[in-house]
Amino acid sequence: MDLTSKAKHYIDLEDRYGAHNYHPLEVVLARGKGAFVWDVDGKKYFDFLSAYSAVNQGHCHPKIVAALKEQADKICLTSRAFYNDCLGEYEEFMHNYFGYDKVLPMNTGAEAVETALKLCRRWGYKVKGIPDNEAIIVVCEGNFHGRTISIVSMSSDPSSYSEYGPFTPGFVKIPYNDIPALEAAFEKYGDKIAGFIAEPIQGEAGVFVPDDGYIKKASDICHKNHALFIADEVQTGIARTGRMLCCEHEGVRPDILVLGKALSGGVLPVSAVLADNEIMLTIQPGEHGSTFGGFPLACRVAIAALTVIKEEKMAEKADELGKYFRAELNKINSPLLKLVRGKGLLNAIVIEPHNGNEAWDVCEEMAKRGLIAKPTHRHIIRLAPPLCITKDELGEAADIIRESLKVLE
Ligand SMILES: Cc1ncc(COP(=O)(O)O)c(C=O)c1O
Repeated sequence: MDLTSKAKHYIDLEDRYGAHNYHPLEVVLARGKGAFVWDVDGKKYFDFLSAYSAVNQGHCHPKIVAALKEQADKICLTSRAFYNDCLGEYEEFMHNYFGYDKVLPMNTGAEAVETALKLCRRWGYKVKGIPDNEAIIVVCEGNFHGRTISIVSMSSDPSSYSEYGPFTPGFVKIPYNDIPALEAAFEKYGDKIAGFIAEPIQGEAGVFVPDDGYIKKASDICHKNHALFIADEVQTGIARTGRMLCCEHEGVRPDILVLGKALSGGVLPVSAVLADNEIMLTIQPGEHGSTFGGFPLACRVAIAALTVIKEEKMAEKADELGKYFRAELNKINSPLLKLVRGKGLLNAIVIEPHNGNEAWDVCEEMAKRGLIAKPTHRHIIRLAPPLCITKDELGEAADIIRESLKVLE
């Protein structure tokens, strides 16, 4: 990429003083509004990553930012050592919004997944009666649930887990989108399986959409075997796939629901685990928590962020616009474009390397033309704009993608 001295300055700082645990595209962002971001030199881009689907409501949504500012002037953090006048109202709001008895608030997606794993094991011991320390949680190959030691113990991606061992035991990995494999796991370990965790669409794996009916069948198999179905909707949830929750496409209500990212509209790290009393009350005071989990600022921001989703009918928009966008992408005729897939506004194009050009080169070309996105797994580019994008803007974005592929042919 051609870099200005200003952009180079910021990139050099990160390179010199920051850990090298990311490989960003060389675009230095300074501002965002709705579906757009601007770099330090004032160049405007379509944001087609939306901070990995955290910014579903659009950058700096005025109602979410106003809620943040209003609460920031009152009190930000109380800890859970005391009650506060925001948390209970947020919990009631979440109960009414998602229909679960209770919510356990955390901050990042990984923490929420960890919480769900703990809850699932607890339920396994206290309710299902699994002998102590023998609980098994079934996980899927290709998953991405975060970066903690226990979560990477569930990963099948060497770049996530290599040289981070020894790993947390108690996970059985099966292929994703494979019902017979799930049945076989229950046949083998049934009495010890506390639950099965899955993403309804594997986002980081490259927007891998399972067969229709997979999530429903998987959830039914769990219930037949007295085990919990845990849905990690950190990326797919909050209207991204054209429903409030991706599981709704199949009429499935997970036993444990994990949310994060867009729960705050990308304003703060806010995550949550939702479940009914039989599961949630297996954890008692002092047995789990986080200094920031459910902090007043987060509660107000999350209420505003979820209110915006409904007020602006973002699930319906994502459903409709997703169909249009995939149809536009499917019209592109390029030797580099192998496949278009996705649901709602969580989509991806699979790139066929051509003349030495790969997904990274496509992303660089798109950035030059004013659209930023990032490859996942080398040959896949996820395309997930904020849900406030308009149909015309999506059409313009499809043109940029078409032109970028064209110059690389
Ligand atoms: C499905 C899923 N679960 C969990 C996480 C982890 O979230 P966080 O990065 O906030 O820890 C992610 C992040 O990309 C995710 O996509």
